[in-house]
Amino acid sequence: MAVDLNKRPDDMIRITTKELADRFIEEQVAAVRAQVGDKKVLLALSGGVDSSVVAALLIKAIGKQLVCVHVNHGLMRKGESEQVIEIFGKALDANLVYIDATDRFLDLLAGVSDPESKRKIIGKEFIEVFADEARKLEGVEFLAQGTIYPDILESIKQAEGKKAVKSHHNVGGLPEDLKFELVEPVKLLFKDEVRVVGEALGLPHAMVYRQPFPGPGLGVRCLGAITRDRLHALREADAILREEFALCGLSEKTWQYFIAIPDIKSVGVKDDSRYEGWPAIIRAVNTKDAMTATVEEIPYAVLHKIVARITNEVEGINRVLYDLTPKPTGTIEWE
Ligand code: XMP
Repeated sequence: MAVDLNKRPDDMIRITTKELADRFIEEQVAAVRAQVGDKKVLLALSGGVDSSVVAALLIKAIGKQLVCVHVNHGLMRKGESEQVIEIFGKALDANLVYIDATDRFLDLLAGVSDPESKRKIIGKEFIEVFADEARKLEGVEFLAQGTIYPDILESIKQAEGKKAVKSHHNVGGLPEDLKFELVEPVKLLFKDEVRVVGEALGLPHAMVYRQPFPGPGLGVRCLGAITRDRLHALREADAILREEFALCGLSEKTWQYFIAIPDIKSVGVKDDSRYEGWPAIIRAVNTKDAMTATVEEIPYAVLHKIVARITNEVEGINRVLYDLTPKPTGTIEWE
């Protein structure tokens, strides 16, 4: 009977130690070299855990034959694109193409308030920007993807007709003229194993243990129609939250923690004057599989510090709220 390459064998050992990860890396390096020969491989490198680990693995296997494309859709968190350039472009000396497509995305999103329309625009444009870049490159025959085992299980579920609550996007569905053979070296691994492999490859702990971040990025946290000023305030407030969570150890024990900003203003006061501003909403949750979630307890002292810093340091925000709703009934994201 033929072996199903998309099925994790029942007796596959879980990768829990550096030794097991090293063995896995060695096997995959050999497998990738055998698969691609001297051809080029393209990878959309978002800076998330999965694509970063695949990038590091392929750099080890085929060096400059890997072309990493990082599309900055203008909806990244503060410092994220810079980190990709720093680690992959400089430290690992990768063949990295950086595309700042901020204006393309934000112009298309102007005035669009429906969450699913926003997701579709971002997903479609992402593929277009990436495809434009792929057409410019010569000799590319392979596309690497950070597919992991839960993605495969999810596709099986969807093929069986179970409905997804929100449409998530990845680089699947490239246009007809772009036909690549896939390279998916971590497709049989669970997330915790991908992290162990990432650390064994020498990626920074903070990158490998980074919280999940949705493909549409801050686009689904700048609620309703995105504006550049509110997006900027969101990015700054989110950076403060992340900094404070790291300082008090909450980042290690919280699955996801971020800020969302709704498209409303309230009256406030600053320097003895009326000050209309947006409210920043703190979301901090724990979950095992993102299907249900509980709210993380943030000590009051930490909350007060976050409120003070955001309202003092971020232009346009005059209140901070803390969302105490578990999932259900609230989803993790607000959109
Ligand atoms: P919800 O909001 O449905 O989120 O409770 C569950 C998990 O999925 C993430 N999420 C997304 N990830 N594209 C993604 O790649 C999306 O459009 C998207 N929407 C939600 C969310 O951050 C959480 O981890």
